[in-house]
Amino acid sequence: MSKQAPPPSWRHVGRHGVFPQGKLDDASRFDFLANMNRHLATRLSPKVRESFEKRVAPRTEQALGRPLKDRGEVREAMAREPIYQMWSALRRTTMEMRQQAGRAMVLRQLEPLIEKARALNDAAVTLQLDPTLEIPRTACAVDIHCMPGGYHTELVEDDITNGANYDAGIFATTGGMLGRWNDGGGQALAQWLKQKYPAFKPRRILDLGCTIGHNVVPLAQAFPEAEVIAIDVGAPMLRYAHARARSLGVENITFRQANADDLGYPDGHFDLISSAMFWHESSARSMPLQLREIYRMLAVGGLTAHLEQPQYGEDMSLYEQFIRDWDTWNNNEPFWGVMHDYDVRQMVLDAGFAADKYFETTVAGVVDREVFPVAESNGEDYGRAALWTMFGAWK
Ligand SMILES: C[S@@+](CC[C@H](N)C(=O)[O-])C[C@H]1O[C@@H](n2cnc3c(N)ncnc32)[C@H](O)[C@@H]1O
Repeated sequence: MSKQAPPPSWRHVGRHGVFPQGKLDDASRFDFLANMNRHLATRLSPKVRESFEKRVAPRTEQALGRPLKDRGEVREAMAREPIYQMWSALRRTTMEMRQQAGRAMVLRQLEPLIEKARALNDAAVTLQLDPTLEIPRTACAVDIHCMPGGYHTELVEDDITNGANYDAGIFATTGGMLGRWNDGGGQALAQWLKQKYPAFKPRRILDLGCTIGHNVVPLAQAFPEAEVIAIDVGAPMLRYAHARARSLGVENITFRQANADDLGYPDGHFDLISSAMFWHESSARSMPLQLREIYRMLAVGGLTAHLEQPQYGEDMSLYEQFIRDWDTWNNNEPFWGVMHDYDVRQMVLDAGFAADKYFETTVAGVVDREVFPVAESNGEDYGRAALWTMFGAWK
């Protein structure tokens, strides 16, 4: 039995000037989903593992006459296992339900939300949209993580639907682990920089694939003197991101609609180039290109740092690789698996960085005490400090 307390209620989510207003029913739907996700992760998931270890692996290895050789074989064997089928179907269903719950809530109040965003955005030069931008196939061939219309689709003028939906649901999907502003990754990176490199004061920061700015806002707050550029291909994300940042009192970020393949900034323009959970949505063709762009745009002495989920290295069991790879096959994340197989270090070096300037580390999300009070946790976070793998390099 898990020691964990239930996930925090959606009522704790951080509210800003464009956050959709939820009724009691909306909160109940999100709370159900957060609890269902927790149940799947802590109660059902161990049973899935047990079925693999006790039944599926011995049976399959006996039939093969050798050990399972990769996660593909694990997936094939587990696909016929009823407990895995149930866990997987429920996981997919909770994701579909999360999208429907968020989308319905946003559509109900879309006009007033768009008006609020317009008022906050106020035709500012810090919101730079490019209606001529060709959305890369990597971002639009499928609805990434089952979000209807993906990050880019616009159905009405000045649309922000998908930005608002993304913001509204992530607290439930993550069980509040990223904090009430869903910014635990960005906060962790800012804290790591301040503690480890207190003399590092970037003047220009670039964030790739910023979505609605959850993780770039803490960087902009940590370096208020810096000029921050946050890029994404999705206009509805950027409109929402800009309005959200303004409403949170953050004015030093320019949100720009652009493709990370080709950003056009001068050589050596930035001191810090960051991303959070961006690379698993990039492709085998784009990632090396984008890393080369980063190297080109980074000043000598500058830093590039990226938060991601861990790579599937040799030290990760085939079962863990298979379970982590669930999103590739069931959650419309087509690049998730291939990206986590890459030799990221080699890619960074191939982009031009020196081997002795490369690093990989783990950073823990800063636990939001408004969501998880100290008294409740009794000094123990019970896994609430979300962990990220961070890789990067100094130039
Ligand atoms: C998982 S989200 C990243 C989350 C975000 N960094 C945060 O802090 O919450 C990936 C984002 O990358 C964007 N994206 C994907 N391919 C891109 C590209 N080639 N150029 C710019 N943005 C891209 C998507 O539109 C999406 O918003």
